[in-house]
Amino acid sequence: MLETIEEKTKPQRTKRKRRKKVLHRLIENDMILTASSEEYRKKVKRVYGGPKGALLTAASMVSLHIPLGERLFRTRKFDLKGLRSILDIGSGAGQIASHLLKYGEPDAKVTCTDLSNRMLRRARNRLKSTRPDFVAADLAHLPFADGSFDGLTCGYVLEHLPDPKPGLAEMARVLTKGGRMLLLATEDSFSGAWTSRLWYCRTLNRQELRRQCEELGLRWKQELWFTKMHKVVRAGGICVELEKI
Ligand SMILES: C[S@@+](CC[C@H](N)C(=O)[O-])C[C@H]1O[C@@H](n2cnc3c(N)ncnc32)[C@H](O)[C@@H]1O
Repeated sequence: MLETIEEKTKPQRTKRKRRKKVLHRLIENDMILTASSEEYRKKVKRVYGGPKGALLTAASMVSLHIPLGERLFRTRKFDLKGLRSILDIGSGAGQIASHLLKYGEPDAKVTCTDLSNRMLRRARNRLKSTRPDFVAADLAHLPFADGSFDGLTCGYVLEHLPDPKPGLAEMARVLTKGGRMLLLATEDSFSGAWTSRLWYCRTLNRQELRRQCEELGLRWKQELWFTKMHKVVRAGGICVELEKI
């Protein structure tokens, strides 16, 4: 009897999955995969440098990214204790950097980077702190020596690379051995497809990303969720702590 149900439901499940994938593909923005890398980088700078970028802080409040993100640090789900030199990649308006300044070691060095100079200026104005260094940089070509940081955060940036591997390789390179990193990224889910449409990014598959990280010596230490509800409905995208081995 069980076998019969299994036989009946398996093809149905496969069909449903396939339909979902088609829907994702229809919604998902494919500019990142079709434009030249030069065109795409210009587009990202224009989008974040323009009015949408100016609304990023408000959008992060509405989506609860700022308060729920803060909770990850406050409750030490991602523990900043002991980290002396932290790189925040794609700082945007300084959403994550503000948590690093608040919950990190008081004398930890914090470096904020972004592809967009305009966003870096917004981060500087919002953070109102002399502690961080602000460096314009592309995630795929980080201007730092190997092993420069023992902590790294990268929130919703990796999906702005057509191929995540060069970005992951750069993050692995600048982290010290035993260094820890918090990576947040848009997942290949229904809500992720809408995010991609709004911000011209791609979506990432969790299993594929895990395989790529592990190939680069970034151990998938723990998967994190903003709330229990996020875990149940698989929302909020990929949020993972990685450790360089
Ligand atoms: C969605 S915002 C994320 C802001 C913040 N990290 C957060 O978690 O809310 C993405 C940021 O990544 C930056 N960005 C996009 N592509 C990048 C790249 N290749 N290298 C560095 N930063 C990039 C954008 O300019 C933007 O400020």
